[in-house]
Amino acid sequence: MTQDHPPHKLHLVPSYYARHIFFCLNERKNGEECCAAQRAYDGFERCKQAVRAADLAGPGRVRVNKAGCLDRCAAGPVAVVYPEGVWYTYVDAQDIDEIVESHLKNGQVVERLLIPPHVGR
Ligand code: FES
Repeated sequence: MTQDHPPHKLHLVPSYYARHIFFCLNERKNGEECCAAQRAYDGFERCKQAVRAADLAGPGRVRVNKAGCLDRCAAGPVAVVYPEGVWYTYVDAQDIDEIVESHLKNGQVVERLLIPPHVGR
């Protein structure tokens, strides 16, 4: 089979960040479920602190970012780590510290905090 146009080539270059974690901080004021109502902001702030304390922050290392709704609200509060695409839920600072130490620092998934694949909005 011939192609009219050459396929786009993806040039693989080193990623600016080795890992990126996004925290849903979405807030709904209509009473529907949302991560903000489940102390997502505390988790986000704790993660930023822990990443800094572990000297993981910055280019070539880890970036912690806010996100809007990631559409997996039923599992909230929700955070996702890329490039692996691993989805977590968390309850407290201890959970966040474990994600930072195990996954963001050492590349080991924290199995106990994984969101089951079928859980969506
Ligand atoms: S409100 Fe957080 S995933 Fe939807």
